[in-house]
This record gives sequence, structure tokens and C-alpha cells, in this order.
Amino acid sequence: MNRLNPPPRLLMGPGPINCYPRVLGAMSTQLIGQYDPVMTCYMNEVMALYRQVFKTQNSATLLVDGTSRAGIEAVLVSCIEPGDKVLVPVFGRFGHLLKEIAERAGAKVHCIEVEWGQVFTAEQIEDAIKLVKPKLLAMVQGDTSTTMLQPLQHIGEICRRHDVLFYADATASIGGNPFETDEWQLDAVSVGLQKCLGGPSGSAPITLSDRYVELIRQRRHVEAGIVAAHHTQGTRPRIASNYFDLAMILDYWGPERLNHHTEATSMLYCARECAINLLEEGIDSSIQRHQLHGEAMLAGVRGLNLQPFGDLQHKMNNVVGVYIPEKIKGDDIRQQLLNDFNIEIGTSFGPLHGKIWRIGTMGYNARKDAVLHTLQSLETLLRRAKHPLQAGLAIDNAMQIYAERKL
Ligand SMILES: Cc1ncc(COP(=O)(O)O)c(C=O)c1O
Repeated sequence: MNRLNPPPRLLMGPGPINCYPRVLGAMSTQLIGQYDPVMTCYMNEVMALYRQVFKTQNSATLLVDGTSRAGIEAVLVSCIEPGDKVLVPVFGRFGHLLKEIAERAGAKVHCIEVEWGQVFTAEQIEDAIKLVKPKLLAMVQGDTSTTMLQPLQHIGEICRRHDVLFYADATASIGGNPFETDEWQLDAVSVGLQKCLGGPSGSAPITLSDRYVELIRQRRHVEAGIVAAHHTQGTRPRIASNYFDLAMILDYWGPERLNHHTEATSMLYCARECAINLLEEGIDSSIQRHQLHGEAMLAGVRGLNLQPFGDLQHKMNNVVGVYIPEKIKGDDIRQQLLNDFNIEIGTSFGPLHGKIWRIGTMGYNARKDAVLHTLQSLETLLRRAKHPLQAGLAIDNAMQIYAERKL
């Protein structure tokens, strides 16, 4: 086999995207042992950094090894006991994923749904909470399958009033859209690196409120091979997964450093670098940058005579959906874009598969040149496929947005 030599793609889909070069550099840094004081110091630094990223004081802020769904699964399986009621508002593919993971953990899941392309009002969620009386509300903030951003700021207060735990999956939105763990009264949040944080997938930062941790601690069952006399076992049923047992993972990240898995050191380096990169830029500046390039891309696709998908008032800053014109073969255009221009964009899932393209502007690729290259290349392919458009308008529209912001 040849040496690794992937083509120099520009990843302009819904994620993953190209990594920040400094994050790639961090990943190739030499390993150290998992109890080396330098390593445990890095672990503590990661906790402190992600408290800033999540905007929280939660001491239980750490990494779950695995892709974003590892974070989701750890948060849900560690809380849910068989028969617990969980409410999941579904507005896209990843709501269905929350439902499935909660069901596998033994929950009785009640879903409410809106059409893909829409989001819920706080009233709709409160009505469902009153009806279902769940232990936990689990919902997605930015669902990349529809490009919609669910407003969360009033939901936490509703949950507290009804004594419901509140979990959000902010994998695709954090860093590019506002997110406030403590101000919005969230009990649990999980994310991934491969979207606005500009890293690869493979590490899932999470944060847990004290009341969530309290619940998990009641299910603490230290593994037989490492249990010692001073360990107190929990009174509630053991967590159904060993790998995603947050009671044990918290012990590993806590002062005792009680052995659980072998920490994925390269991914920890990577997650640390993603957080430092975001915080050096400033969370607000990063959100503004995602908003700017998202607006330029939206103006640009309109200039290509493409119709944007969904309720644009609730669009995520970092990804736009556009209807594939009727006479155009969506997959052919995507393939040509990839093969001839080295640019990747996405289609979607379920009811939207083959109906929309999703074009991302996130992390390292929330940049003017990346936006302009993508628009110019799409224009060429659409024009050659006889899609009616005014040549140059996409770039002019995007340039207009940049000129207004003097960029
Ligand atoms: C909102 C959301 N949640 C979860 C996931 C699943 O992430 P992963 O593929 O890293 O497990 C994704 C991936 O696109 C996502 O967009």
C-alpha cells in the first residue's frame, strides 16, 4: 500500500471540516503515561478550558472518549434507569438519535415532532412536559440534518419549575452559535470537536450540573478488580454500560484518578488545542465570524438562484440547506464538485435525502476564501448543467456582505 496521501479537499459540508493546523499539530505530539503528573495536569487544564467553552461553573466538565454520540450515550445511559420517562422533541435526525439512545437505555420515551425545517416554541415544550411529566428532557440545539437551531434559553427555567432534568446535544452548534450552560440552566451538555471547534471527531466534551452528578453518584458501582475498602457503592441500579459509566469516568477524572479506560491521549491533546484556539479568538468573535460567513454563503446561494431550506430565522450560523433544483442531479453535482474542484458539500438524511444540499461554513473553514471558492465552483457546475442563473451574482452577493463588514 502507498503512504497516506489524501487529496487536499476543502470540506464545506455539515461536518467534519478541515482541522485548524495547530490542532493537527497537537495531535501528532508524543504520548506520555496516563498517570504522569504532566498528563493529569493536562486533564485538569482540559476541565478548566471546557468550563469556559461551555460557560459553566460545573466541576464535572470532562471528555468522553469517542465521537459525539459517545458523549450523548454516556450522559443518557448514566442517568436513565429502566422505565424512566424521557421527553424528546424531534426536529431532525439527531432528535431521533436521542430517542433511540434513550430507548436502548430502557427509558419510556415520549416524542413531540415538528416538520423538518421548523423548531419548537417554549410553550410547546412546556405543554408536553406537563402532559408527560418526564424525569429528563433531551433535545438537540443545532440539528445539522435540517440546519435549524432550536432556541434553548427559556427551556431550562421551565424544566426547573417542573423538576425535570435538562440535557442538550450542542455538537454541531457550540462555538458558532450562542450557548450558555449555566445561564440557560442546563443539567447536562455534550458536544464534539468536528464542527465549529475545528478538530477531528473522536472526543466528546461534556458538562454535568451538581444535581445530575448527584444522581449518577447514587449509581456508583466500582469495578470488582479495583474496588477498595474505602469505596462506597451507590444504592441505585448499576449503570447499564461499563464504557459509558459516568460514575466511574468521574472517579477517573477526579482526585482519586481511579482507573477506568486508558485515556485517548492524542484526542485529549486535540480537544485541549481546540478549546485554546476558540478561547484565544474569543467565543463572541468566533460566533460573529460564523454568522458573517454564514450570511455571505446564504447571500451567495441566493445569487445562484437556489432556494434556501427551512425557517431562516432559526438557521444555524454555520450551515445552510438549499433545495436541489428539480432538473439538476444533486449527486452528480456533488461528485463533480469533489472530483474536479476538491470541494465537499453534503446532502441530508431521511425525508430530505436527495432534496437538499447542506453547505457548511464552520471552524477553520468559516473563511472568506473558502466561501468564495465554493460559490464560484458551484456556479460553474450549475451553469454547465443549464441551471438558470446570472453569472457572477453569487460572488457579488457574498462580496456585498463582506463589504458591509469591511472584510
Ligand atoms: C447534532 C449532532 N449530534 C450528534 C452527531 C453525531 O456525531 P458523531 O458522528 O460524532 O457521533 C452529529 C453529527 O453530525 C450532530 O450533528
